[in-house]
Amino acid sequence: MKTKILQVLRQNRDTYVSGQELCEKFGVSRTAVWKAIKQLKESGYEITAVQNRGYRLISVPDILSQSEVASQLHTKWLGREVCYFEEIDSTNMAAKRIAEESDRADWHGCVVVAEKQTAGRGRRGRGWSSPPGTGLFFSILLKPGIAPGNASMLTLVKGMATVKGISEVTGLKPQIKWPNDVVLNGRKIVGILTEMSAQIDYVNHIVIGTGINVSQTEFPEEIAKTATSLKLELEAEGRNVPLSRAQILGAVLQYFEQYYETFLKTEDLSVLMEEYNSMLVNRGKMVRVLDPLGEYEGTALGINDRGELLVEREDGICQVSSGEVSVRGIYGYV
Ligand code: BTN
Repeated sequence: MKTKILQVLRQNRDTYVSGQELCEKFGVSRTAVWKAIKQLKESGYEITAVQNRGYRLISVPDILSQSEVASQLHTKWLGREVCYFEEIDSTNMAAKRIAEESDRADWHGCVVVAEKQTAGRGRRGRGWSSPPGTGLFFSILLKPGIAPGNASMLTLVKGMATVKGISEVTGLKPQIKWPNDVVLNGRKIVGILTEMSAQIDYVNHIVIGTGINVSQTEFPEEIAKTATSLKLELEAEGRNVPLSRAQILGAVLQYFEQYYETFLKTEDLSVLMEEYNSMLVNRGKMVRVLDPLGEYEGTALGINDRGELLVEREDGICQVSSGEVSVRGIYGYV
């Protein structure tokens, strides 16, 4: 009930919605509506109530509760089930547990969100700083009928969805640092960690975890020079807009659902490649490829339909796949 009322109030933010209208719409009593409004107020929503006019939503807290996230969701199937944790080791690990331990088979599309992670995981065995209140930490659990060898492309799909969602909500223009970091003004704003459980020809489940720096103003020393947040970047543009993590989540999930469905049709990036390349910060730039077999430099041309980065060297074009290799700008991180 809280979610439904919140959705109606949100759709009518410029006006009042009468209690009677809400009762009739949802077939509940006045007391039930009043109780839901009271609970929303207790969670930090500012709602005014005026006699003979009804209720009006004034402001929304930056929380990730079930009803706040649900009221920001505009997807068909993704995130229809959201598992929210105040504190968890890692949303990726929680999503994996759901897939492995649950006796239900309908977990495809479930989204795990946490206010705080105590063991946030990054790529290459690194950690991911996850204090409460400022970051957005979530994982999407999927069971796609694709070949395991094609799964890594989903990370690139997630990068695209994240860029689009962030741009839509904030007006900022983030870009992708291949394969899947999202950057703003040369600093990292998003990290994506995709993990898979598979047999040789069959995917058991895929977890795509995303960490977005939303309103951090400080970072741990080791990433202080390469990380930034949406808040810091908005402030740098002289804009001080309130940020809602639930709104960002809703937008990113909506784009992911669309891009994912496009990806599934061909199981490659043939349709998305051009748009991905238009988001690529490295495109046309000199990059250094950190290949364990030997580092080299070249010009990044963009990705091919398998998500490999094409790097032009004097002796020809190399196709770089993301597994063991990472790519840096020649003058720094981007
Ligand atoms: C990276 O190293 O760039 C990837 C970082 C991924 C962090 C996110 S936060 C939500 C999800 N849960 C985790 O433990 N990690 C991912």
